[in-house]
Amino acid sequence: MHSLHAHIQQSSEMGDGRKKGGEELVSHKCSHMFSKLNRFSSSWGGGEKSTGSPACPHMMWLTLLYSCTGGAALLYALYKWVIPAAVQHHGGLALVWHDFIVERLMNTLTWSTRPQRILRAVQQSATRGDPRSVVRAIDQFCRHKEWAMNVGDEKGCILDSVVSELNPSTVLELGTYCGYSTVRIASLLPPHAKLITLEFNPDFAAVARQVIAWAGLQGKVQLVEGASGDWIPKMKEQFGVKTFDLVFLDHWKDRYLPDTKLMEECGLLRKGSILLADNVICPGTPDYLEYVRNSPRYKSQYFKSHLEYTKAEDGLEKSVFLG
Ligand SMILES: C[S@@+](CC[C@H](N)C(=O)[O-])C[C@H]1O[C@@H](n2cnc3c(N)ncnc32)[C@H](O)[C@@H]1O
Repeated sequence: MHSLHAHIQQSSEMGDGRKKGGEELVSHKCSHMFSKLNRFSSSWGGGEKSTGSPACPHMMWLTLLYSCTGGAALLYALYKWVIPAAVQHHGGLALVWHDFIVERLMNTLTWSTRPQRILRAVQQSATRGDPRSVVRAIDQFCRHKEWAMNVGDEKGCILDSVVSELNPSTVLELGTYCGYSTVRIASLLPPHAKLITLEFNPDFAAVARQVIAWAGLQGKVQLVEGASGDWIPKMKEQFGVKTFDLVFLDHWKDRYLPDTKLMEECGLLRKGSILLADNVICPGTPDYLEYVRNSPRYKSQYFKSHLEYTKAEDGLEKSVFLG
């Protein structure tokens, strides 16, 4: 108590009006703790420098602790629930949030990439040789843990029905990413059918190869590393392809139109070939839509759906090449 008395006495002598009657304000318990802390800080050479009012430092530490804990809890709730729920209905915001902010944060925190985390989810919860379990594992991970740019479960069902209905022998996929849609398509192909999938990011291609192998579909899929604009003109000579029955366009959106025209020029489309394009609304492919919907060479139909793992509108455009 001595140092507290001394402190109050000193404050009064300094003429600080706020300090008057300080003893009345400080409870007995608090005074005791303050005295202890005061002695402690004096032993570190800080006692002499104290000029503030005799508030209880213990309370200050508690307030600080509560503020930090509360702030951290608030940030966690925002990150985990509030923002994801808020961006569910807005495709543009969802892409910015999941693709730029969350992905970078998770990459830094986990020292891994999103495709590597997807691969780990497959290895942990999918059965080897069972393509549907691979698809389920990725959907589960992307719905409940971390969003990713796969075609997703909802649009995936539309993709499945187009593949099943057409029963194609030759398929080209533009944009493999982790191999999610590749697995969906390849698992529905008849025996002896072939799927060529193009991916220009070598890290994504490396993950996709393992995902496809985990699904047991490596015999049906040829994963080609490189840019679509470079590979489309070489398809015939390199892979002995005459024409494609089905082309799934799911690479960067500004490439849909030039690559479609390139496929036409290279004679890769026959009468009846189907182009199925993802993300025609979000992020959107206006020039491509304008082309396939207005060209006499195509009969085009829109399948309304949602951006993968969200409630924002997106859809697939199915266009039949008429020759
Ligand atoms: C939306 S993701 C594909 C998702 C995948 N189809 C699925 O549903 O699982 C687009 C992918 O296309 C690749 N890509 C973009 N432009 C490309 C191009 N011109 N040639 C080859 N790959 C490309 C990107 O690296 C990315 O991995």
